Amino acid sequence: MATADIGLIGLAVMGQNLILNMNDHGFVVCAYNRTQAKVDHFLANEAKDSQIIGATSIEDLCSKLKRPRKVMMLVKAGSAVDSFIDQLLPFLEQGDIIIDGGNSHFPDSVRRAKTLAEKGILFVGSGVSGGEEGARFGPSLMPGGNPQAWPFIKPIFQAIAAKAPDGAPCCDWVGEEGSGHYVKMVHNGIEYGDMQLICEVYQIMKEGLGMSSDEMADTFEEWNKGKLDSFLIEITRDILRFKDEDGTALVEKIRDTAGQKGTGKWTGIDSLDRGIPVSLIGEAVYARCLSSLKDERTRASKILVGPTSQVVDKSDFLDALGEALYAAKIVSYAQGFMLMRQAASDYGWNLNFAGIALMWRGGCIIRSAFLGKIKDAYTVNPSLENLLFDPFFTEATATAQSAWRKVIAMAVTQGIPTPALSTSLNFYDGLRHEMLPANLLQAQRDYFGAHTYELLSNPGTHIHTNWTGKGGNVSSTNYDA
Ligand code: 6PG
Repeated sequence: MATADIGLIGLAVMGQNLILNMNDHGFVVCAYNRTQAKVDHFLANEAKDSQIIGATSIEDLCSKLKRPRKVMMLVKAGSAVDSFIDQLLPFLEQGDIIIDGGNSHFPDSVRRAKTLAEKGILFVGSGVSGGEEGARFGPSLMPGGNPQAWPFIKPIFQAIAAKAPDGAPCCDWVGEEGSGHYVKMVHNGIEYGDMQLICEVYQIMKEGLGMSSDEMADTFEEWNKGKLDSFLIEITRDILRFKDEDGTALVEKIRDTAGQKGTGKWTGIDSLDRGIPVSLIGEAVYARCLSSLKDERTRASKILVGPTSQVVDKSDFLDALGEALYAAKIVSYAQGFMLMRQAASDYGWNLNFAGIALMWRGGCIIRSAFLGKIKDAYTVNPSLENLLFDPFFTEATATAQSAWRKVIAMAVTQGIPTPALSTSLNFYDGLRHEMLPANLLQAQRDYFGAHTYELLSNPGTHIHTNWTGKGGNVSSTNYDA
């Protein structure tokens, strides 16, 4: 009998917790997993005494869903998603809805939305953030795809989503095709950037200021009460305080090689493809790559010479460090929103930037008080060209400027690597320069390859100069990749 409000495929940690969350909000969920034993175990344990029901096959699952059917998949991104879609299709009807809640690469979601629309099936690719706890008690949800699906899934999605401090759900319709997964990808890229910035600050505290892990935890605790208030600052505080059995900080025993599942890399690659300088996320990905070259770094540490380090007095430096972190974070978000703006224009997506900031305000890994300010900026001006042009952020970076420069200068002098902090300031200085040295670069290209250049006084017209008097007057074709 068709009794379930929604079906959920995939009973790994995220799937199980989302089902329990939906159940808490009064929805009847039908659970399915490729291995039947997992369904039985879930129903007999975690889902005991709930209204959750199980399915023994895809056909059984589809027969138990109210019309239009809503099936959400939380399976590994890639071929498993296509395989489940293929298995579902024979048992679905026009107007039924398939939701992919995994970390799928957005071009796959663009493709799936198109091919399923041709079959009359409404596809939604939804970013889901917040890890296990978020899934259970309120994730950030970023659904995009076929807009006709939204009215049917909205009551469930907004009920189970995290709520911002003003009570607004951290879930709204993102836009067409693969835009939900695109926005989730950028979220993850920003997550990489935020984490890297915090890690650089930690290294400055440890090496440059000689602070103990407890002193560092105290500083993060203070920061978490002000404008840096965020989930990642909060967990960093807790990690730094955490002691191993021998009473020393566990974090110092962890091997310094970072893993990655690929979403930050996708953001970096996408930014290169679109020609948007999302340098901070790029540096954050490269920093993970460099960290993984542990053996080579170990050899280099014995060969390559750095400056003699001097411990700086921390008393007047910690405030500057907090300011530098804040300014760098502003630049990172400005870059992320630049990228989304470009993608929206490339794909014809109508992205609501204030809504995206609100979706990230709670529930997700990058949740922070700061996102409330971004939401305000785009609410006041939905077509804001650059986050840094919003008066609040212009003022915030201007105020932080001298501290920001002081911190980076100190790190450079001391030989402490700060790829993300440094690139944030370089981007800021680059953006505020009306004149960059690309005039010389264009001359070089024209000199050796007749690639042509434009004059400041006459943009749009490409000319070539015979710089040596020896070359010909024929210029190369003109195109930008
Ligand atoms: C989230 C996270 C999550 C991500 C992990 C691991 O929003 O809940 O972004 O989706 O997959 O944080 O990412 P890495 O393994 O690439 O660090």
